[in-house]
Amino acid sequence: MPSNRFTAFALTIVVAAVATLSFAQDITITPDPALAALSPEEMVAKRQAIMKEDGGILKGAGGLSGADAVAAADHLITNFSNLTVLFPEGSAVGDSEALPAIWENNAEFQAILVSAVTAATAMKAAAEAGDATAYMAAIKGVGGTCGQCHQTFRHKS
Ligand code: HEC
Repeated sequence: MPSNRFTAFALTIVVAAVATLSFAQDITITPDPALAALSPEEMVAKRQAIMKEDGGILKGAGGLSGADAVAAADHLITNFSNLTVLFPEGSAVGDSEALPAIWENNAEFQAILVSAVTAATAMKAAAEAGDATAYMAAIKGVGGTCGQCHQTFRHKS
């Protein structure tokens, strides 16, 4: 099973580069192995569906608490982890709004996804601890990654 353990050291570099997060923590990124078998057209449809779903989760997350808040954060962690394998080179097909910059500067693109998983992991920890202030801050952190990535890596529509 493809699973990347990011050490605290590696994360510190990512966090410093992204600069929107003021904490470092261990995260695990485990994409669904079945996604690798999708055709480029299916990859586009899948990642667009995930993006839309993330928007919906983020919109509703502020009103959640307890187990529902933990589940929302878990869903975001899964979705952002899956996005790390849903942008292979050559998958800007059909109605995709993916820009070539994704493959010209893939390290930066992937780093934003890592910071999104990191923020969603902080969101989950805060939800588990019942810390509403940290929870709301983490939601804002997740939300910041959307625009940060779209600005550079997605066609303006
Ligand atoms: C690491 C980069 C990245 C992050 C983070 C990211 N997006 Fe996207 N997003 C993209 C790219 C690239 C596309 C275009 C995908 C395509 O059409 O192939 C896209 C497309 C979309 C779309 C259009 C989907 C469609 O049906 O065409 C929506 C809505 C969206 N993103 C919402 C979000 C939200 C909400 C977040 C944050 C919770 C988010 N995105 C985070 C890169 C990102």
